[in-house]
Amino acid sequence: MILDRVVLWLARRAAKRKMDRVFSRGQDPYGYEWKPYETERLRAMETAIEGRAYRRGLEIGCAEGVFTERIAARTERLTALDVSSVALERARRRLAGRPAVEFVEADVREWAGPAPAPQAVDLCDLIVVGDVLYYLDKPMVREGFEGTFGRIKGWLAPGGLLVLAHGFAGPEERRIREGYRRRFEALGLRLIKEEAVGDPAVSGGVQCLLSRLESPGLTAVPAVRGVGPG
Ligand SMILES: C[S@@+](CC[C@H](N)C(=O)[O-])C[C@H]1O[C@@H](n2cnc3c(N)ncnc32)[C@H](O)[C@@H]1O
Repeated sequence: MILDRVVLWLARRAAKRKMDRVFSRGQDPYGYEWKPYETERLRAMETAIEGRAYRRGLEIGCAEGVFTERIAARTERLTALDVSSVALERARRRLAGRPAVEFVEADVREWAGPAPAPQAVDLCDLIVVGDVLYYLDKPMVREGFEGTFGRIKGWLAPGGLLVLAHGFAGPEERRIREGYRRRFEALGLRLIKEEAVGDPAVSGGVQCLLSRLESPGLTAVPAVRGVGPG
């Protein structure tokens, strides 16, 4: 148990260092604003959350806040989490002046979850996880990785929407991304739609597996015998 915690602590430190290094190279190291794969993926993710307003959103792995801005436009309150302080600093600047957006520096494998909010809105009716889960999918920290699925599911309100969007190159990586979605299905979430986004011919063979899953809604409370009608 203690060993697991130490290994996870080391993994968190390594993840933070690695991601801080990536973002220290300069603005937009992933090319969210110009690479065809990224622009197409983010457009499809935006379509996936359209058509509904959300009380409380959670973005896991918000990076510099490019997609955070789009989610913020649709949510009353939004928590955006990332392990990299360098990325978060830019995200905070990008979304300056939006009090309904809170940024959290944490490793999702250890984060305690959304803080209690006013009006008992504790759970999220929208959770977005874009190109994050494969960073956690490491043999040394299997337990932290596998445990993350149940924790994310536990933060989703009944009837809430979970959007997964992960890049893949070829059938083997696609199978691994489908495995992420299947883990959530095994926890009781229902797949609404899944599609491969992007043209591999213009994005170096990479596409994005975009999955929308829904948490079962609140079930009607059964009438107590002898009290209900009839
Ligand atoms: C490739 S970027 C994706 C950004 C954004 N979600 C998107 O869809 O464009 C991955 C982000 O996940 C963050 N990340 C990686 N491992 C993480 C962890 N264990 N906990 C929280 N965030 C993590 C990285 O710092 C980075 O900002």
